[in-house]
This record gives sequence, C-alpha cells and structure tokens, in this order.
Amino acid sequence: MVYSDPNSAKNDHKKIKVRVQNILEMKKNSKRISSITCYDATFARMIETTEIDVVLVGDSLGNVIQGKKSTIDVSINDIAYHISCVSSSLKTPLLVGDMPFLSSGISRAETAHNAGILLQAGAEAVKIEGASSEICEQIHFLTRHGIPVMGHIGLMPQSVHALSGYRIQGKNEHDKMRLLTEAQKLQSAGCFAVVLELIMPQTAKEISESLEIPTIGIGSGNFCDGNILVLQDMLGMNKQFKPKFLKHYLQLEDSITQALQEYCDDVRNAKSELI
Ligand code: KIV
Repeated sequence: MVYSDPNSAKNDHKKIKVRVQNILEMKKNSKRISSITCYDATFARMIETTEIDVVLVGDSLGNVIQGKKSTIDVSINDIAYHISCVSSSLKTPLLVGDMPFLSSGISRAETAHNAGILLQAGAEAVKIEGASSEICEQIHFLTRHGIPVMGHIGLMPQSVHALSGYRIQGKNEHDKMRLLTEAQKLQSAGCFAVVLELIMPQTAKEISESLEIPTIGIGSGNFCDGNILVLQDMLGMNKQFKPKFLKHYLQLEDSITQALQEYCDDVRNAKSELI
C-alpha cells in the first residue's frame, strides 16, 4: 500500500504497513488486493520495493522449493523456517503463513498450537484450507484468540486425492451452491479473506459479491477482490508449468540457464577477467 504523504517536503510516496484491517477496508473501497507467494529473503527484499499488499509463505513451497509432486509432505516446521527467512526482509505487506496438511482440522488444541508456531516465526495471519464444520469451529477459536485467518476453498491442493486431481471447481449448480455456503461459513467463522482457487469465474464472482470479506483468486477469473500467484510460476522459472490462467511475466528459466552456461564457458575458457 502506498499513500501520498502530504507532510513530506518532497511529497514522495511513503509505504504504510498493511494490516488485516486495511485488507478489509480495501474491499469496502473497491481497491483490488495484490498478493504473491514468497519463501526466501532475496525475493522478500525485492517484493518489499513493490506495492504488493499480501505475501503468503504457501505450502506450494513443497512444489517449487522442495521439488515434491504435491504439498502433502510439507510440515509446519518447513513453513515456519521459510516464514523466518521472509520476515527478516519484509516490512510492508501483510505476511500470511500457510497451515500445511493436517496441521489444522484434527483438534482445536493442535490447530492453535500450530498456528502459534507460525505466528512466533513471524507470520501475521495464517491460511487454512477447507470449510468443514471442524475447520470452521477451529477458525472461530483462532480468530477469537487474536489470530487472523485467511480461508481457502475451491481447489485445495492438500485434498488433491479426494478431489480426484487438480480440476476446476464450481462447474455445476450443486458445486456452486456448496462453494457459496462454504464461503459464508468461513466469513461467519471470522476469516478476514478467503482464497478462491481454480473456481469457475462466474461462481467466483457470485461468491465475491455475496461476501463482506475480500476474495483472493487464483485461476478463478477477474471478478475476485484480489489475486495471488506463486512467485516462481509467474516469473517463468519452470516453462513447462503453464496452466491456462498463468501469465509468465518473465522467462526466467531461459535467462538463468543462459547465464549459468555463459559463466560455465567463461570458467572453462578462462575468458572473463571478472572471475
Ligand atoms: O500454497 C500456496 O501457494 C497457496 C496459494 C496458491 C493460494 O495456497
């Protein structure tokens, strides 16, 4: 978030810390919310120079950092470690930590304990996948005890086996009604925002219009109140990974491999004086 500071002599832009309350106000003021994932200090330092509102240390680190096929192997300590890497370089955006597979939903005590680990590592809120009655009850408990929660419905990668793969959600009327109900339940449980992943754009639009809290879409069209992408994916660090909704803002895989080969050639040929 960048505001013009009227007291500044140069009237330059001063960055104001983004908090949960700002995220709620952004929806009221029809300001769209930009969000990105991040897992390390180098990228966090660069994100800090932009106007990105929300940074998520997502369990997608299982795919892009750990090289796993799904997010199921990611542990609470993995997320806590990457939060601590990011939080040292990130001041302005709201920092959200993802609750990984089975770290929530089992019992209220375990969920609270695990959310506490992420907050102690530097997160300012947690994200939880799902909207079962157990999860909603646990979200309510966290929010009543001062832990802000972002919900997540639609495609939930932690439930990939139950959902029979990475498929678009909310295609038929029954699915749409289920998603609308889940979104309402998460709002009532106290979530300050909800991620809508890979949901039919019309369904995502109806959910967004039905909620007071903002929706953050990924692969769910243009009608959500904001959007999130996985950093390495949008930078084109894996050119094979190009789902329909994903724009590669750079072709970093090509640039990086070319740079590495150039360096390798310089070393072999003792060519550059810079090494
Ligand atoms: O883990 C993650 O990166 C996520 C986002 C894609 C929403 O959950």
